[in-house]
Amino acid sequence: MSNETDANGRLDDILAGYGIERSNIIPILQAVQAEFGYLSVGSISAIAKYLRLSESVVYGVSTFYAQFKFVPVGKRLIRVCRGTACHVRGVSRVLDETSKLLGIDPGETTADLEYSLESIACFGSCALAPVMVVNENVHGKVTPDRVKKILGKD
Ligand code: FES
Repeated sequence: MSNETDANGRLDDILAGYGIERSNIIPILQAVQAEFGYLSVGSISAIAKYLRLSESVVYGVSTFYAQFKFVPVGKRLIRVCRGTACHVRGVSRVLDETSKLLGIDPGETTADLEYSLESIACFGSCALAPVMVVNENVHGKVTPDRVKKILGKD
C-alpha cells in the first residue's frame, strides 16, 4: 500500500468516527492534525466533502484558530526563545548555530521532516536563559557549543 493510500485510509477512519454535523468541524480538524501533524490540502478537501461544506468554509474555520498548521511539522520541534532575558544572554548565537546545523531558518522544516525550527516569545523560564525547547524538553543555559548535542547531531 502506498503512503498516500495509507493516509487516505487513516483519514477515512477518523471521519467515520464523527457524525455529519457542522458542529463536529473543530474536533475533526483537531483529530486530523493529531494524526498527521498538520492539515494538508487533501485533508481539508476530504473534511469539507464529508461534512457537505465548501472547502472555503473549512479553511475559514481552521485559519481562525492558531492551533492549526498547514505545513508539515518535523518529528522534533525545536523552539528557541527570543525573549529579553534570553536575548541578553546571547540566544541569537544559539539560534544561528541551530539554523546552520539544520540548514533551515525559523518557521521552516527540514526536507526529511525530522526537524522544525521556531523562535518563540519568552518561555517563562528566564532564570535558565538562554532557553531552547525540543518537543517538551526544556534545555537551559544553552551555549552554541551544546546545540549539536541537544539536536542529537553529535
Ligand atoms: S526570555 Fe527566554 S525564557 Fe524568558
